[in-house]
Amino acid sequence: MAAIKTAIPTRRFDAVIVGAGGSGMRASLQLAEAGLNVAVLSKVFPTRSHTVAAQGGIGASLGNMSEDDWYWHMFDTVKGGDYLGDQDAIEFMCREAPKVVYELEHFGMPFDRNPDGTIYQRPFGGHTANFGEKPVQRACAAADRTGHALLHTLYQRNVRARTHFFVEWMAIDIIRDAEGDVVGVVALEMETGECMILEAKTTIFATGGAGRIFAASTNAFINTGDGMGMAARAGLPLQDMEFWQFHPTGVAGAGVLITEGVRGEGGILINSNGERFMERYAPTLKDLAPRDFVSRSMDQEIKEGRGCGPNKDHVLLDLRHIGADTIAKRLPSILEIGHKFANVDATKEPIPVVPTIHYQMGGIPTNIHGQVVAPAADGSQKIVNGLYAIGECACVSVHGANRLGTNSLLDLLVFGRAAGNHVVAQNLKARSNKALPKDASEFAMGRLNRLETSTGSEKVQGVANDIRSTMQKYCGVFRTDELLTQGLKEILVLDERRKHVSFKDKSKVFNTARVEALELDNLIETAKATITSAQARKESRGAHAHSDYQQRDDEVWMKHTLWYSEGNRLDYKAVVTKPLTVDTFKPKARTF
Ligand code: FUM
Repeated sequence: MAAIKTAIPTRRFDAVIVGAGGSGMRASLQLAEAGLNVAVLSKVFPTRSHTVAAQGGIGASLGNMSEDDWYWHMFDTVKGGDYLGDQDAIEFMCREAPKVVYELEHFGMPFDRNPDGTIYQRPFGGHTANFGEKPVQRACAAADRTGHALLHTLYQRNVRARTHFFVEWMAIDIIRDAEGDVVGVVALEMETGECMILEAKTTIFATGGAGRIFAASTNAFINTGDGMGMAARAGLPLQDMEFWQFHPTGVAGAGVLITEGVRGEGGILINSNGERFMERYAPTLKDLAPRDFVSRSMDQEIKEGRGCGPNKDHVLLDLRHIGADTIAKRLPSILEIGHKFANVDATKEPIPVVPTIHYQMGGIPTNIHGQVVAPAADGSQKIVNGLYAIGECACVSVHGANRLGTNSLLDLLVFGRAAGNHVVAQNLKARSNKALPKDASEFAMGRLNRLETSTGSEKVQGVANDIRSTMQKYCGVFRTDELLTQGLKEILVLDERRKHVSFKDKSKVFNTARVEALELDNLIETAKATITSAQARKESRGAHAHSDYQQRDDEVWMKHTLWYSEGNRLDYKAVVTKPLTVDTFKPKARTF
């Protein structure tokens, strides 16, 4: 417990990175190794960032198990994303993929190995050879703990490179000068309640997603959309926020992720009749069709009465036939998760699973260097000087309307590295920091002080829980006009309630409560962006399954949404259909 002070110290860096997950630490490594003075802020110890929960692998066409090609990977990514992804960025990512994986290998990442010593790769949803002909093994895996191995590898390299970590610090807001350039952040140290201005020539958001706007989520509690909230409050748009991925296999009732790698290793989904129902929905890829497809098929089985359990509200993931040895070797965490969260021994019983919110395809719009771009008054795309966004909080857009499994770890490595390289190329050492505006901390401190002085009757967790249940109820796997319109109304009411949040006993306010109240402001911005964008999109595409408009409408809706907090309004921008060097993949019906 500590009071908020008003005089704010300032520290100056070449670069400040907000978030120490995979993308943040990949970027910081690039900067620190180039000799820049770089600070990384994280709400948790870096190796506890949400990347740690990534299980199945990193997508890269190494071709270690059979022939593979970056161009096939690109095709799968474009088709998986239901043709909404920007094809220039997708080409860039898929071409870079082998390079970033080999770099990790050389950093010492403990990948699983084949007998010949090469990196083990497993099959994953939507990964195919020869443009959809048959499944291919492309996911580079470290058992079912790939994110854990990745984060530890990057953290150790960063320690060696002398990256400066601010652990248990939360960024409150960015600072923009009169020209709109970003010149740093105001941040709160969670232990002491001290605030500080971190001046920077470059600020990089690597804050992860906002999966905690939903009640049932595979996401960590820290995933409250902080980067999106800060961007929205600074007048920047959020792109494609209607697209949220439901992972087919969250443990029913608990939400904990069961990796798609289970199905990659041979696990199958069965209904209450014991039928492997994915054979009916996706005859070629079956259980390894892309996630939007599998999630909708599971929901359909449940709706048609073939769900399992007393309430017929889930299906079963059966891995008994894989064998105890392979499970112990390739899927050790899944065995443990089965025991702890579903009370089953997965070698002997199937695991109850339901589609669970997992990943946001949208975010802060950027180019392939990670620079944040926003439309100028004349309609052109303008770079926001001094601000980058990478990883799940960014929308490049490589995932389109539905991300391919394993492309999240790939995205954060490729674009973390690309942003780092772009910043290094600007020779920041030779430049001085731009002057801070006089009122640099006013906006952020105003938000904190409002919390200290508010006499409203709303409680932080009351409003946060209502946001989560509203989003879950009105913005789920299947959406309708009626649900979305009602959901939007309720979210706007919650936005008003959020303004009347206060602490119960002002003499005993813990800093964790302050953090939760600050996070609430970020949750509501992300929830508004999501449901407003979803309500506007009158088609079904990727993860946005609209029961009133069941077809994809390329004539009208082959465009990105851009949501602005002010006025809760939407704008649109064109999808980039032209890749860098190859031919465009033209939209086709998605069958698997
Ligand atoms: O299923 C999984 O292991 C998750 C991977 C991903 O989201 O890319």
